[in-house]
Amino acid sequence: MDGNYWKEAAEKIYQKTEKVAEKSGCKIPYSTNNGVFDDQTGNISWWANGFWAGQLWQLYGSFGGENLREIAEKIEVKLDRVFLQSRGMDHDSGFRWLMSAGANFRLTGSETSKNRLILAACDLAGRFNIAGKFIRAWNDSGDGSKAGWAIIDCMMNLPLLYLVSEIINDPRFSQIAEAHADTAAKAFVRQDGSVCHIVEFDPKTGKRLRSHGGQGYAHGSSWTRGQAWGLYGFTLSYIHAKKREYLETAQRIADRFVGRIPENGFIPVDFDQPAEPWYEDSTAAAIASCGLLELSKFAGDKYREAAETLLKKLLENRCRFDLGCDNILEKCTAAYHDSWHEGAIIYGDYFLTEAVLKLCGRETFLW
Ligand code: GLY
Repeated sequence: MDGNYWKEAAEKIYQKTEKVAEKSGCKIPYSTNNGVFDDQTGNISWWANGFWAGQLWQLYGSFGGENLREIAEKIEVKLDRVFLQSRGMDHDSGFRWLMSAGANFRLTGSETSKNRLILAACDLAGRFNIAGKFIRAWNDSGDGSKAGWAIIDCMMNLPLLYLVSEIINDPRFSQIAEAHADTAAKAFVRQDGSVCHIVEFDPKTGKRLRSHGGQGYAHGSSWTRGQAWGLYGFTLSYIHAKKREYLETAQRIADRFVGRIPENGFIPVDFDQPAEPWYEDSTAAAIASCGLLELSKFAGDKYREAAETLLKKLLENRCRFDLGCDNILEKCTAAYHDSWHEGAIIYGDYFLTEAVLKLCGRETFLW
């Protein structure tokens, strides 16, 4: 595809984001109400609270715009409150702080942001279960019912550990990241290259007990965003740790994902969902595109071609560049069995932006 196609798309994303940022002030959006961004400031530990800052930093890194930087910095400060809520801290520290403090540190060298990254990585590393060699996912009420739960999404948070090991010249954090990735490759990835969402281990012995269904259609099915987290997550672990096994795992997941893209080119919430009701999740398409683009650097052009096809479909059918709504990407779905489907979700916009900037060669690598 002509490079100008992606440059024009990036320009449209920037133009809209700049205007929406100006009117949104310091909101931390997740979704929209009647087309207007909501604000998760009162729900500060929400896992997706870093993505708007990440989008602003990506566009600042590519186009400039002091307003974008200032808003992203204010959001980063707001997120400091999460450090004081032990129950608000979980496996998603990478999503929260790589997108905010990590981006700031990479683009400006901020020492305060570096400090936040180290604190976040210490907490994430503290969730490591030594017996099972996995990073614990969600918290529970204190009854230990989720002490043995790990989820595929966590693969995307490991880059926080790799980054902090590099920053402070201490391999402890990347050792934990690799140990988790080794476990995930064995415990989550099925024979056919699809991945489970949740795996439960015995938190005392570390033995794998069972998998659970999670946000997809059913137990044993293929929740597409989970497939995308796995595809991109193993690729990122390969980029950092250079273990051949991670690249092979990413390729297996990618081959399965690409092989199951429906003929219409739109990604369902679950590859195994029934024909009715058929729900779409365009976030899965955007995340998978980012993963495929990185994977193509090591594993061949076919992955780049698949990403370009997915993205073109989104840009031409699922994106709003007018100012009638604050979001860009449409038809995003958090979970198959939720009552709410096919709306705006901020990480859809973030990964769309990241993917388009990758294709223009203008991305700031935040992972
Ligand atoms: N990490 C949660 C989700 O993908 O919905």
